[in-house]
Amino acid sequence: MKNVIVINTNQEQKTINKNIYGHFAEHLGRCIYEGIWVGEDSPIPNTNGLRNDVLEALKQLHTPVLRWPGGCFADEYHWKDGIGPKEERKKMINTHWGGTVDTNEFGTHEFMQLCELIGAEPYINGNVGSGEVLEMQEWIEYLTASGEAPMAEERKRNGRSDPWSLTYFGVGNESWGCGGNMRPEYYADLYRRYQTYVRNYEENNIYKIACGPNVDDYNWTEVLMREAARYMDGLSLHYYTIPGTWENKGSSLEFTEEEWDTTMKKALKMDELITKHSTIMDKYDPEKRVGLIVDEWGTWYNVESGTNPGFLYQQNTIRDALVAGVTLNIFNHHADRVQMANIAQTVNVLQSVILTEGTKMMKTPTYHVFDMYKVHQGAEALKIQGTEKQTNVHVSASKNSNDVIQVTLCNLSSTESEDVQIDLRGCKEALTNVKGTILTAQEMNAHNTFDNPDQVRPRSFEKGRIEKDQLLANMPPMSVLLMEVS
Ligand code: AHR
Repeated sequence: MKNVIVINTNQEQKTINKNIYGHFAEHLGRCIYEGIWVGEDSPIPNTNGLRNDVLEALKQLHTPVLRWPGGCFADEYHWKDGIGPKEERKKMINTHWGGTVDTNEFGTHEFMQLCELIGAEPYINGNVGSGEVLEMQEWIEYLTASGEAPMAEERKRNGRSDPWSLTYFGVGNESWGCGGNMRPEYYADLYRRYQTYVRNYEENNIYKIACGPNVDDYNWTEVLMREAARYMDGLSLHYYTIPGTWENKGSSLEFTEEEWDTTMKKALKMDELITKHSTIMDKYDPEKRVGLIVDEWGTWYNVESGTNPGFLYQQNTIRDALVAGVTLNIFNHHADRVQMANIAQTVNVLQSVILTEGTKMMKTPTYHVFDMYKVHQGAEALKIQGTEKQTNVHVSASKNSNDVIQVTLCNLSSTESEDVQIDLRGCKEALTNVKGTILTAQEMNAHNTFDNPDQVRPRSFEKGRIEKDQLLANMPPMSVLLMEVS
């Protein structure tokens, strides 16, 4: 049976915030150290200590925003330990993630330079759990103040005369869990207090993000919105796709068809979560001024055997590509409320877009989905009808400033191909061109390795065609398809 989907090309809904395509890098395992930061003296080609291959790959993705330093690490991080001459920086133990020694070689200056080099906006997450208000206040001053402010003077002594521009700042991370095990009422009050001192210096204008709910903790959203909505610009949401249980999450590479289906079902839950949290937010913020910031999402499996359990290293297959495609489609549908999302995590941790091993680097299937979907960044979301009735096909669409219609489709079935008919309604001019790009594989666990880094990669798709404003295609099982129509 054909999947019939209607796209109203003249009913634009909302601009898709490019930050929906954001990333997250924590001091966790081999994400920052090794994955991004190798140090100036490393034989791995680098720019001031940041590895060039990773910089290039992130630039190519048009990475719009990067969240740092955590995660759970954020509420243990004391930023002053990460500035000044590297050899004098105090070491710390990363107690949450494997008890490793963090040399603090990668700190504020290194992060801000990373963002500059890849063209991303920085999103810094402050420490509420074990940090003081003054510490947070001074971090903002250090980053964004000029003139004779004491922290600005210190920044200048450390080699940076101009303030940076910083828009996104998170006040605590998972304050209901690793960030302090707080109750929402208590955190709401703390949020109100801490955010008071997150000041705007000169032209800088900070978008303040409060810690939001874990998965379906709707009470957290209710309390935070009721008590603190007027003091925030964004509220975060964390949701991970875990095929198994928390204790036994399942393997990244060895799984059954049933586990494939469960994974897809759990990925689709993101839609329900956003809808329900957003409905609560609507009660206090009908104008949708406060953005929902999904600043941690992605698949989470058991760590690869032989790797440090605290490092959360996992492989990445075509299954992860489908999870990414579906989730990004969902964010596009909710472009009116979701203003940012950050997949966890950029390199070597959970659903990474990049994996490294010594000098080697490779792009995962998830990377390729972000590369294909980047056309949606800043485009106008288009209204879709009919997809809800489809079981295997999941779609979102947008229109760019040149009136090109960009449709991204996922065939979630691991066994069935799917015929798709997309009725493109309301086009000003006849559509004649279609350019297709597909990511697919023959095996459910197809993935890239350092020896075979291009096993799963996008290819040109020639089988999409237009017949009288109908876009037609046959999608192979487990595929992500981009069609650009003009
Ligand atoms: O991304 C890994 C961890 O998951 C983060 O540190 C934490 O915020 C979440 O629980």
